[in-house]
Amino acid sequence: MTDHVVPLTTGTRAIVTGGHGFVGSHLVAALRRRGVAVTVLDVVPPPAGLPADVGHRPVDLRDPASVRAALVPADVVFHLAGNASGTISVDRPRFDFETNAEGTFNLFEALLDEPPRRVTYLSSAMVYGRPECTPMPEDHPLRPFLPYAASKLAGEHIAESMCESYGLPTVIGRAFTIYGPGEDPRRAGGEVSQFVRWHLNGRPIPAVGDADRKTRDFAHVHDLVHGLMTITERGTPGEVYNLGTGSETSLRELADIVGRVTGRPADLHCDDEVLDDSYRHVADIAKLRALGYRPRVPLAEGIADLARTLGEDPELPSNPAVFHRPPTLVETGRS
Ligand SMILES: NC(=O)c1ccc[n+]([C@@H]2O[C@H](COP(=O)([O-])OP(=O)(O)OC[C@H]3O[C@@H](n4cnc5c(N)ncnc54)[C@H](O)[C@@H]3O)[C@@H](O)[C@H]2O)c1
Repeated sequence: MTDHVVPLTTGTRAIVTGGHGFVGSHLVAALRRRGVAVTVLDVVPPPAGLPADVGHRPVDLRDPASVRAALVPADVVFHLAGNASGTISVDRPRFDFETNAEGTFNLFEALLDEPPRRVTYLSSAMVYGRPECTPMPEDHPLRPFLPYAASKLAGEHIAESMCESYGLPTVIGRAFTIYGPGEDPRRAGGEVSQFVRWHLNGRPIPAVGDADRKTRDFAHVHDLVHGLMTITERGTPGEVYNLGTGSETSLRELADIVGRVTGRPADLHCDDEVLDDSYRHVADIAKLRALGYRPRVPLAEGIADLARTLGEDPELPSNPAVFHRPPTLVETGRS
């Protein structure tokens, strides 16, 4: 395993695609704390307050020329940019495919000109589809049921084929349900952020599905970043690693924790008519643990911290989970 070690430390140069997004901004901060020199490639402009030592290169991953023009020499590339919303993928499947699948191809093709020592692709546990066992190991069947999951899986296959055919040393992380400060409420589909936002506004919490049967592996974004850095430094090229905690929490337990840490019982309203969902979506993290990783943020602590960060009346979530649309409502043309 030592042959594969790529240290994330002073003197290392990293590119983070999507570095201005929710996960990306936490990763950039963690890399800076290690002394890594970071350049962000993103379609949105740098946010106010971005530290002066963080580079920014504008890019639209959907445009191969823009990707080639944006690349700078790097030891490590973290590929996080893309559409992260299942609901957007159902509304705009072509946009989702062009961004996540073609965008990943454009990036990997451009990287062949000057290969880094490591490329880390952040995929999603949605690629598994409906769990056939719990927890799910990395060799669980892959049966995506959303366009988003299909485009993320296409990205994985592109990454794996570039690793096999050209020796581009790639590792893949499959993230489960991530939460923490900095999620955009208009795009955030994760239950933690949604539940906390409804509750802090004094509103009932709407939940989709059977709140006792539907369980998730909720990972704090700091743990996710720690996992990403672990597989980058010590993972084996060509391998896939689940990024989660291995802990199973039902939506009802989640609502109870939200009530407990805020000092006011949560009022959970379940729409259990919607049964077309993935139940018991939990990671087997034995492979990640074998690299020395341990989750550090207990769920109650992470939620208490999130509630403090959001304040009393945070913006409400505006993005309910959508799994199906009548075909007439789907945008299929080029965006
Ligand atoms: N948030 C989660 O719960 C979760 C779970 C599993 C996997 N992931 C994966 O993690 C990654 C980051 O997710 P996030 O939650 O931070 O999402 P986010 O929407 O906050 O960040 C995505 C970033 O990518 C950028 N981007 C989008 N399209 C682009 C394009 N065409 N060219 C260049 N940049 C573009 C955006 O501007 C944004 O900064 C995604 O690849 C997502 O699939 C997220």
